[in-house]
Amino acid sequence: MTSPADLSLVDGETSDEERLFDELIANEQRIEPRDWMPEAYRKTLIRQISQHAHSEIIGMQPEGNWITRAPSLKRKAILMAKVQDEAGHGLYLYSAAQTLGITRDEMMEQLISGKAKYSSIFNYPTPTWADMGAIGWLVDGAAICNQVPLCRASYGPYGRAMVRICKEESFHQRQGFEILLSLMRGTDEQRQMAQDAVDRWYWPSLAMFGPPDDQSPNSAQSMAWKIKRFSNDELRQRFVGMLVPQAEILGVTLPDPDLRFDEETGRYEMGEIDWDEFFQVLRGNGPCNAERLERRRTAHEEGAWVREAAAEYARKQHSRLSRERVEGAVA
Ligand SMILES: [Fe+2]
Ligand SMILES: [Fe+2]
Repeated sequence: MTSPADLSLVDGETSDEERLFDELIANEQRIEPRDWMPEAYRKTLIRQISQHAHSEIIGMQPEGNWITRAPSLKRKAILMAKVQDEAGHGLYLYSAAQTLGITRDEMMEQLISGKAKYSSIFNYPTPTWADMGAIGWLVDGAAICNQVPLCRASYGPYGRAMVRICKEESFHQRQGFEILLSLMRGTDEQRQMAQDAVDRWYWPSLAMFGPPDDQSPNSAQSMAWKIKRFSNDELRQRFVGMLVPQAEILGVTLPDPDLRFDEETGRYEMGEIDWDEFFQVLRGNGPCNAERLERRRTAHEEGAWVREAAAEYARKQHSRLSRERVEGAVA
C-alpha cells in the first residue's frame, strides 16, 4: 500500500518506512502484518505462501488414493493422520497469506481455475503401496530441507506457521522411511516394489527445489529479503547428502549412476535433472494435472453447503451476542 508520505518522495529517495523495513530485515527481526512493507515483498510472499498452501491441499490426493487400501488398520490410521496433517498445513498457510491482504476465496478461485501453481510433484500417480513410502521418504524429505530454513523467514506469520509444519513433516518422513524399510525386509516382490517407487519419485523430488541457481531469477531478491535462506542448488545438495546414508540403510539404489561425492569440492556430483519434463508438468501437462484439479473443483463445490452453514452459524452467533450486549446495557 502506498501511504500519502510516499507520494511526496522524489525518485531514489527512501521513506522512513522503507528505512525501518530495511533495518528490521538487516537485524534479523520480523516483519509483521501491521508493518509497512514494499509492494513487491508483499506480492512475492502472497505468491509463495499461497502456492505452498495449494501444494499441501493438492498433495493430499496422491496419498488419499491409498487410505481405503492401506495394508493394515495401523497403516490406515497412520496414513489418515498424515493426510489430515497436510490439510492442516494448507490451512495455517492460507491464514498466513490472508494477513497480507488476499482472501481465502480469491486463493481458492486461483487454484481451481488453474491460474495458481502448486508443486508439480503432486501430478504424478501413486499406483502401488510402496508409493506411500517413497512419498514420505522423498517428497516429505525434500519438503523438510526446503522448509526448515523457512522457519526463519523474515515474515512473522509465515515463519511461525513453518515451525509447526516442520515438526509434523519429520514424522511424515519417518513413516515413509519405515514403510520402505518394512518392504525391503519382505519378499523379493516387495523389495522390487519399493525400488520401483524410489526410481519413480527420486528425480521429481530433486526437481522440487526448483531450477539450478543460474536459472532462478527471483532467488536473489528472496534471499536479500531473507524469505529464502539457501539457494536451490544448496538445498538440493543437503537433500542428497541426507538421502545417501538413508538409502544405504534401506538397501535401495538411488537411480542416478552419476551420483558421487567429490572429496575435493565437498559436494555431490549428480546426473542431469530432466527440466523439460519439470516445465511440462508445471505447465499442466503432467500425468495427473487435470485429474487433480478436477477433484479439487468437485470437492470445493460439494463443500459449499458446509461453508454456507458455518457462515450462517457465525452470523446467528454474532447477532445473538450483540442482542445480549444491548439487553445487558439496558438492564
Ligand atoms: Fe505438509
Ligand atoms: Fe508432509
